[in-house]
Amino acid sequence: MHTKQQKTAQKAADRVIIPKNPIRFIFSVSKPHKWFAIGALMAMLSAEFFLSVSPFVLKKLVDELTAFKSLEEGLQVFFVWGIVYVLLQLFSSMSWSASGFTGMQWLSRANKTAYERLYNYISLHSNAYFSDRFAGSLSNKISNASDGSERLLERTLWGWLPETIGLLIGVSIFFTVDKVIAVGYFLAVFVVGVVNFYLVKKRRPHVIAYAASSSKLRGDGVDFLTNIAASRQYVRRKHENMRISKSAQDRREKDIRQWAMSEWMLFMNRLIAVVLVGAVLGYMYVLFKKEAVGAGDIILVLAVLGNITHIITHLGNMMNGFIRMYGEIEEGLEEVLVPHEIDDKKNARKLKVTDAKVEWNAVDFGFDDNQVFDKFNLDIPSGQRVGLVGSSGAGKTTFVSLLLRQHDIDGGEILIDGQNIAKVTQDSLRENIAVVPQEPLLFHRSIRENIAYGKLDATQEEIELAAQRAQAHDFIMELPEGYDTLVGERGVKLSGGQKQRVAIARAMLKDAPILVLDEATSALDSESEVKIQKALHELMVGKTVVAIAHRLSTLREMDRIIVLEQGVVIEDGTHDELVASGGVYARLWAHQAGGFLT
Ligand SMILES: Nc1ncnc2c1ncn2[C@@H]1O[C@H](COP(=O)(O)OP(=O)(O)OP(=O)(O)O)[C@@H](O)[C@H]1O
Ligand SMILES: [Mg+2]
Repeated sequence: MHTKQQKTAQKAADRVIIPKNPIRFIFSVSKPHKWFAIGALMAMLSAEFFLSVSPFVLKKLVDELTAFKSLEEGLQVFFVWGIVYVLLQLFSSMSWSASGFTGMQWLSRANKTAYERLYNYISLHSNAYFSDRFAGSLSNKISNASDGSERLLERTLWGWLPETIGLLIGVSIFFTVDKVIAVGYFLAVFVVGVVNFYLVKKRRPHVIAYAASSSKLRGDGVDFLTNIAASRQYVRRKHENMRISKSAQDRREKDIRQWAMSEWMLFMNRLIAVVLVGAVLGYMYVLFKKEAVGAGDIILVLAVLGNITHIITHLGNMMNGFIRMYGEIEEGLEEVLVPHEIDDKKNARKLKVTDAKVEWNAVDFGFDDNQVFDKFNLDIPSGQRVGLVGSSGAGKTTFVSLLLRQHDIDGGEILIDGQNIAKVTQDSLRENIAVVPQEPLLFHRSIRENIAYGKLDATQEEIELAAQRAQAHDFIMELPEGYDTLVGERGVKLSGGQKQRVAIARAMLKDAPILVLDEATSALDSESEVKIQKALHELMVGKTVVAIAHRLSTLREMDRIIVLEQGVVIEDGTHDELVASGGVYARLWAHQAGGFLT
């Protein structure tokens, strides 16, 4: 069960607006943890400060050592400045650790917030969104955005930010020695920075292309592995592996393209850094000759130069890392944060079901240019049990999707007890409809959890009763771990009929006033079906029911049967009436003597 705290957090999460811009995204997921963020930043700043002033102490030490008059005095100088130096190192190290401990809290919390918000957002997308995308690649995009944000913060907090600050402090230390060195160096660093920035910007599209290619490869891998059985049946292992190889090759090409640009940049920076060191030392030589600087100044400049040469070389690399992670986060956010296809209307109310009367008034709906319903009308009075018949592709499953508002319709309206389903909250609509879908959807969890999905707080007795009524209890008890058996991804460890019975038990537990059965018993043998029919009949009592079936015998006892053809009702009546009328239904019925095709 979920804790109260988790539930409140979930409620709050639905209202949060998630920025699409990576930097603003990182800010927004850090906001709830701002005290840790502030603490970590302050600690980092003080660490960098202590580190940057230590070359001064070296200068002081050298200056005073070269000027001492007696050994005793020299020892004293060494002792005092030595202690100051060690203390600075100690303060700096302690500050780094402090930023480590607070930063760890900030980053891990922000990462958790990012995951929670993105999964919360993506779970509100429509089925159409998911049918256009690979689930594996989507979960990767969320990981890229969430983990990428954490890594970006890490590289910022302990990478480029302190280094940049160190660089600026280093250049300002040069000012204490000589203005020309300082200004010259500053200009050089500025130019390197600008050139690096320009190159990094040029490289950005390549980084994005590389990230997209990476996630395509991962998506292809997941698609292949989830359908491995099909690829075996058709002996297409090589074909699939070649597809993977093609995607991997594409990824490699894109990687080389973006990587090479980075290597050239590093190469350039290394050269420039060496030239700068040479220039500064040459200039110091001139100053020393003029006796304008002392030994202490030379030590100071050398110490600072050592620090900032390293920084300049990696300036481009740091920007690269930054831009790469930025690209990954951006790509992830762009895919996930598209507007929801189906939103609750502002101030949408909850659906209140009293009689469970369903009306379809002039409903138009199509997929792209495939018109499935054209001015479709249907009234289902309260408590009526309707059988829906029609050839494959006639629109029966689509009928179920529209009733659940998994797509928005193009015209007309669907009413439940007089309330337009497009104007009530989606959750309240779906809470009132129990569906046994054409393809049972099982989680890779225990059978108990899969059944209890219809009622999360169901007791073991309730679960077993539902399973018994759905004719599932016996086969479950024969499984190695009974109700605790894991069913495999999408329920692969169960037979088609077993999955259907688990799905029926789940719908029974849900006990909603409207029941929809889409080929709910199609995978069962006739004996189990006869038994389940009894249970289903019991379940239907007092409910409005839409049952879809190709095997007409299962619909015989419905109050009414509707024959759907190309989105239009072509026949409507009881089983006996339709058989007597000699239409489409009668012909189908004749084909299926006793419910089976002859
Ligand atoms: N997600 C989708 N995107 C595009 N077209 C779709 C989608 N789902 C269904 N269709 C199309 O809509 C039409 C109706 O499909 P639907 O699944 O409702 O048929 P059905 O009556 O349930 O068929 P069956 O008896 O085979 O289950 C078909 O032409 C189908 O190709
Ligand atoms: Mg169907």
